[in-house]
Amino acid sequence: MTRPTVLVYHADPAYAALVRAPRGRVVVRRAATPSEAEPLAAETDVLYAWQFPRHLYAKAARLRWLQVMGAGVDWALAPELPPGVVVTRAPGVFGPWMAEYVVGWCSWVTQRMAAYREAQRQRRWIDHVLPDRLRGKTLVIVGLGDIGRAIARAARALGMRVLGVSRTGRPVREAERVWRVGALGTALRQADFVVVLLPLTPDTRGLVDAAALAAMKPTAWLLNVARGAVVDEAALLDALRARRLAGAILDVFATEPLPPHHPFWQLDNVVITPHISGPSTPEEIAPIFNDNLARWLAGRPLRHVVDRKAGY
Ligand code: GLV
Repeated sequence: MTRPTVLVYHADPAYAALVRAPRGRVVVRRAATPSEAEPLAAETDVLYAWQFPRHLYAKAARLRWLQVMGAGVDWALAPELPPGVVVTRAPGVFGPWMAEYVVGWCSWVTQRMAAYREAQRQRRWIDHVLPDRLRGKTLVIVGLGDIGRAIARAARALGMRVLGVSRTGRPVREAERVWRVGALGTALRQADFVVVLLPLTPDTRGLVDAAALAAMKPTAWLLNVARGAVVDEAALLDALRARRLAGAILDVFATEPLPPHHPFWQLDNVVITPHISGPSTPEEIAPIFNDNLARWLAGRPLRHVVDRKAGY
């Protein structure tokens, strides 16, 4: 029997180097660019990829399973992906990274880090400026999957009050109260910090809209670490310009890289980071892929299967 082919699609060769199949029962191919992937697509049974070019799905007639090297699967679930292909994601590894990102940037706000650094540049001793505490502040987490709950635990350890919003509104141990997405405004009204974590699906596109932003306090900060398009960026821009929000920490954008002329770059109440809050690393993703690969070869059910209808 011919060995199945795994196509590893990533610029970092470590992803392919860390693939381990029981008794070498697969052929591993690697592609770093669309043109490298194109001639390999037709012979691919398993795709292990980040942002695989969707126009190549049509050429991948043998494709059975796509393991995404990340948390979000919006790019993978393109209409061109044949219905029979199973998509799996990589949960569990991003929560700890993103908890540090969120707590770190919330502390950047309350510890007035920008102000002290600026004063240092000017050799000014600004002892009239005092930091604030995270303890007692309310963090609203919109999206309570494994990442949201990891962030909630870190925030609670610092004494923050954690509220949640999710599709189902189901209570979770990590949040004092959880609302359904339909009651987003009720939750946001209470927030000092809001973290957006929902996956991008047809239901969540533009969910954080002008009305949701208007519900927030003018002293509150918005952190988007999900996908740019979950937030109505034009409405956010208006709210930030009018200072109806204190500020935003943005790691994701509807268009990435954020174009140089984009008005977000100029706002002093916006922090821009380049989609790094939950980085994928070959070492952290490989065990998830290798475990699933052993299952796939043994004909056992895969773990972390995406509900393609729900979109996450
Ligand atoms: C990054 O955005 C990811 O989805 O893992």
